[in-house]
Amino acid sequence: MYRPLIAGVFYVLTTWAAPAAINMASRDTNSSANNQDLINSLELAATAADRINLLTTSDFVYDFNEPPPGDSVTTGLGGHTVKADRKLFPALIGTGVSMTLGFLGPCGFNTPHVHPRSSQINVVVEGQLKTQFVAENGVPPIFNTLNKFQMTVFPQGSLHTEWNPTCDPAVFVAGFASEDPGVEQAAQSLFELDEQVVQADLGVDTLNGESIEDFKNKLPANVALFVEECLKTCDIDQDATPNQGEGSGAPSSAGGRGSSHGRR
Ligand SMILES: *[C@@H]1O[C@H](CO)[C@@H](O)[C@H](O)[C@H]1NC(C)=O
Repeated sequence: MYRPLIAGVFYVLTTWAAPAAINMASRDTNSSANNQDLINSLELAATAADRINLLTTSDFVYDFNEPPPGDSVTTGLGGHTVKADRKLFPALIGTGVSMTLGFLGPCGFNTPHVHPRSSQINVVVEGQLKTQFVAENGVPPIFNTLNKFQMTVFPQGSLHTEWNPTCDPAVFVAGFASEDPGVEQAAQSLFELDEQVVQADLGVDTLNGESIEDFKNKLPANVALFVEECLKTCDIDQDATPNQGEGSGAPSSAGGRGSSHGRR
């Protein structure tokens, strides 16, 4: 009469034990990030289970406090963002998702940009943010103010921006429905076009008394600082050293102009 029970226990033990095939060894996340051999193997794996068997337990942890080297961090005067995409966090391969955290200091300004391959859900987890986006031609712009634990969505391809209007730090978490959402900074991209094209598009020869070329070279790196008024209120010196926003990690990978948009 105990036989079925014993058989059942045996069955549970053997099936439960099966995942032991998983490589339980640890590998520090910096050696799986940007690891092209691992990425190739994950890409070629026949099944999702095969992919999991290529990864170690610790490959499933991404540390936004101390992100891996590479292009994980984008830094400007107003703060920094840290991303986890399929290249930096290969465990994402096959999952269809990725994430960015934004640390915006007082008046920190995540400059207008587009994600070409994903919508973005954006939740504030500390402080306050103003958000704006334009989804496409023919619809009104959407402006909002988000407080802690409030969320908005930026539709795929929409031109969007967010900034911290306060003198306290703000942090947002951005989720993407793509392992590789990509990002394109609007002003930097426009000014990458031929100078004559930019002149004709804007209908001016100079901007702020400067040639288009000179003006372009002065566009601030993301995360930038927002308007004069906020800077005055918060007593911020624009020429000071980069503000890392809230949080740790103080990434030193300086984001010069261009660090926040794609290379060709
Ligand atoms: C990974 O690299 C980053 C940046 O170089 C560093 O801050 C961090 O300590 C490294 N993490 C490990 C586990 O070595």
